[in-house]
Amino acid sequence: MQPMRLLITGTASDDRITGTLLSGELTSSMALVLMPSGEMLGTALLTTPDGDSLQSANPDTEVHLQLSANIAVQTGQLIVQADARPEVADQFMAQIEWLDPEPMLPGRNYQLTAPAGTTRAAISRLKYRLDAGQQAAASELQTGETGVVNLALSDAIAYDPVALCPALAEFTLHSENSHTVLGRGHVLHGLRRASNVHWQALAVDQQSRAAIKQQTPKLIWLTGLSGSGKSTIANLLEKKLLACGRHSYLLDGDNVRHGLNKDLGFTDADRVENIRRVAETAKLMLDAGLIVISSFISPFRAERAMARQLLPAGQFVEVFVNTPLAVCEERDPKGLYGKARRGDIKNFTGIDSPYEAPEAPDLIIDTVNMSPQQAAERIFESLQL
Ligand code: ADX
Repeated sequence: MQPMRLLITGTASDDRITGTLLSGELTSSMALVLMPSGEMLGTALLTTPDGDSLQSANPDTEVHLQLSANIAVQTGQLIVQADARPEVADQFMAQIEWLDPEPMLPGRNYQLTAPAGTTRAAISRLKYRLDAGQQAAASELQTGETGVVNLALSDAIAYDPVALCPALAEFTLHSENSHTVLGRGHVLHGLRRASNVHWQALAVDQQSRAAIKQQTPKLIWLTGLSGSGKSTIANLLEKKLLACGRHSYLLDGDNVRHGLNKDLGFTDADRVENIRRVAETAKLMLDAGLIVISSFISPFRAERAMARQLLPAGQFVEVFVNTPLAVCEERDPKGLYGKARRGDIKNFTGIDSPYEAPEAPDLIIDTVNMSPQQAAERIFESLQL
């Protein structure tokens, strides 16, 4: 017998609740609990839509009930049986089928929708692809492919492993701002590896660290093609900050790729991971009270949006160094465009790898009509430090 799971679909002012029974059987003697809060709800009086009392209700039927406990419930919450509660976790292993024409990239953030709620989720690891039931090594999933992944959620949700209760194991993945389903899957089991690692509440916080420096932490995120002028402008900007007594740090693509990210190349999946690590590093530096400048091509909107979301509102400043490809190619300071055109370098941004220009950057820098010095000044002024 599957556990009882009831999704609340409506509440009325006379305390009557309607719900959909996702699995199991609901009886009038069953002790109930609200998820995810875990509040005890007592038992429920079951009725027909006309108010006649019922002993039990079965799956896929609309259920009408009245709780014995006086506890406010809301549409979208789950009522479950107290002695067989779903698990609650923010990390789990799942099987997913990828539907979007763009491949699924580990590290990218998606919106996850499950019966028990919606939260942001990143595929923290693609373990393998399923090829006719066999496990095959893979770094991404293409349309129509199925794979087994680890998922890390921003907020824990209630779920059941698919073997116990398929209805509460299912979920879909969407891009952040759309309802288009990119992939769908089910939870195989939870990963409890993070449940004993608690976020340490620190007595000294960002505010106090920033206060002794008398500055407001910010992340100035420069994005643009290779050769657009990001590093030159970033260096000049950092000099200006120093001259004004601001404590800053510059994270630069070419440098970070020699150390922290030296294991990463230029496939889409590696670029996603490159930016994820950079954003997390920058976040720690902001927490230390610093003004951070980052200078990476960061070609994908999704990862720039992820970096913005990691920080409190207003601390992320996106600066689009908008130098046309033809100008970057003409400058070609490292001779890389020449190599890319000759086919000596693969996946070169702007040539055979995409650059998604920002749609609403905080600032656009036109390096064709502005010197690097002027560009640095322009950014500095806009910061209002
Ligand atoms: S990102 O796309 O992952 O953000 P990042 O800014 O770290 O890239 O690194 C870009 C730098 O790496 C370029 O300025 C260039 O010097 C070098 N590079 C080497 N190969 C490539 C490539 N295939 N595409 C883009 N840049 C490359």
